[in-house]
Amino acid sequence: MSNYHIKHLEEYYKVYRKSVREPELFWEEIAEEHFSWRKRWDKVLDWDFSKPEIKWFEGAKLNITENCIDRHLRTKGDQTAILFEPNNPADGPEHITYRDLHERVNKLANVLKSQGIKKGDRVCIYLPMIPELAVSLLACARIGAIHSVVFAGFSSSALASRINDSECKLVITSDGSYRGAKTIDLKGIVDEALETCVCTTHVLVVKRINSEINMKTGRDQWLAPLLENAPTECEPEVMDAEDPLFILYTSGSTGSPKGMVHTTAGYMVYTAYTFKNVFQYRPGDVYWCTADIGWITGHSYIVYGPLANGATTIMFEGVPSYPDFGRFWEIVEKHKVTQFYTAPTAIRALAKENLDYVNKYDLSSLKVLGSVGEPINEEAWHWYNDNIGKQKSPIVDSWWQTETGGIMISPLPYVTPTIPTYATLPFPGIQPALMDENGKELTENQVEGRLCIKFPWPSIARTIWGNHERYKDTYFSAYNDKYFTGDGALRDAVGYYRITGRVDDVIIVSGHNLGTAPIEDAINEHPAVAESAIVGYPHDVKGNALYGYITLKETGEGRDHDNLRKEINQLITDRIGPIAKLNKIQFTNGLPKTRSGKIMRRILRKIAGKDTGNLGDISTLLNPECVKEIMDEAL
Ligand code: WT7
Repeated sequence: MSNYHIKHLEEYYKVYRKSVREPELFWEEIAEEHFSWRKRWDKVLDWDFSKPEIKWFEGAKLNITENCIDRHLRTKGDQTAILFEPNNPADGPEHITYRDLHERVNKLANVLKSQGIKKGDRVCIYLPMIPELAVSLLACARIGAIHSVVFAGFSSSALASRINDSECKLVITSDGSYRGAKTIDLKGIVDEALETCVCTTHVLVVKRINSEINMKTGRDQWLAPLLENAPTECEPEVMDAEDPLFILYTSGSTGSPKGMVHTTAGYMVYTAYTFKNVFQYRPGDVYWCTADIGWITGHSYIVYGPLANGATTIMFEGVPSYPDFGRFWEIVEKHKVTQFYTAPTAIRALAKENLDYVNKYDLSSLKVLGSVGEPINEEAWHWYNDNIGKQKSPIVDSWWQTETGGIMISPLPYVTPTIPTYATLPFPGIQPALMDENGKELTENQVEGRLCIKFPWPSIARTIWGNHERYKDTYFSAYNDKYFTGDGALRDAVGYYRITGRVDDVIIVSGHNLGTAPIEDAINEHPAVAESAIVGYPHDVKGNALYGYITLKETGEGRDHDNLRKEINQLITDRIGPIAKLNKIQFTNGLPKTRSGKIMRRILRKIAGKDTGNLGDISTLLNPECVKEIMDEAL
């Protein structure tokens, strides 16, 4: 018998030990007892981190939507699957039952087929947080098409590069989106992007804001009339365990975004099992994750994990500040939310507002509070614990990544005693390792090092779309036979982990993972810019904000700096999106470099963070004199 639901700490340790000693048996039991398979696997696990090649449940056949929808119909057909809370509270909510969801997914799946989409084709989804977004993911999965969701805050060129990288044939979008009091012209962004995408021949458009938009003949169609005529049953495509389910792009420290590829069976088993335990979900609970489905958190813990457990999952279209800063808590009260999962940046932003926005509402339904996306600082942790959880709801600080597919290190609420800022213990099946500078594993407790994982888990990304070499280089070449996360961590005396942050050039701003290279590339496109370096510095709401050091070409000398700053941020907005804008821009005459010409970001990071007490040895720099100048003029 598997321990699908872990209820006590001793049970956790027992399950954990089993997951390490007999990983194959452990995962096999969970897979066997809690999912529907069209055909059983021949082998539970096959892996070689040196290639790297990882296969889970090889030979098995299934469809993830049968597991997320069909198998709940008999017992939960009338239960709400997705509870949609629109941007404007007066326009909702909408309850979508498992039966409704089944019909909507099947219809859209049939529409996709009618547009020529087949198993293995890539479909780009660029939609706001409306039910059609979740339905689109599931409709793709129904017919074996690979979805590639692009967060609807990305610019047209960021969208275009993602569409082109995975050669999406079809794009699903909407006429526009609501964001608080504003509307955004999503279709216009898609039109601009598609000017450079020859692979895309079809665009399906959801009507959301009733705006006037251009419809390109032969390419664009409104979705509603197509759905109206579509049959309500679509036989699920029978997929192999290792068939790709989706691609999701994430930033790297260098180069273009990486299209992480997640496959079917392992991803399903792991997201379902972690959802059940990390949120201690019980029938009747109303679970709410505030993330956008454009990120992995939304894929795994708004859509697949909750639905695989037959849960009720809320989708919120709006923002925490509209109509006012009480919106989150109003929703918690209205729907008697039991599990609430958000990001530290949202907590810090709301903690700045008057407590009346919180205290007006009855939050007594809450049982579990979650945090994800970046380290949660002590102050935010206490504010969350005192004012939202009333010191009764455990906080699960869950550490994971786009690449890991599911939660990796996290307390289990009511099971694992929590400590502020600690992600605590590895989830069953996860074998973390801390490595020292020389690539040696630190096996004792009370150590700090680089966080690796030694053994595969079912939802690890299998490759980077179209670039397996890069997958190998990025994750499996730093340390022998280990997956390297890019994060630093410490392990305390009892074996609890605390994530200390990125050790590479990825910067997490408001919970969004931003690589420095694409931002620098965008800046360098400006005709007056010679060179640039981006670093993060501590920011009380965003966690980190971006600080740019920019040197100008001769032609740029004497130009109005405030204007230049605006133009540079506009370029970043156009190339990536507003989330990547720089908070501070300092123009300098030079950037500190090593003798081999590498920019010394470590020094720039210290200056940006006003931590210049110990800059380390700068005498070996190519141009040590520029450090003083940069310090004198720092913002
Ligand atoms: C990076 C991954 C996984 C969902 C959202 C982000 C940081 C994530 C935590 C946490 C400290 C965290 C890490 C990680 N991170 N959760 N609980 N404590 N840091 O996914 O965009 O792929 O970013 O987010 O640095 O590597 P992502």
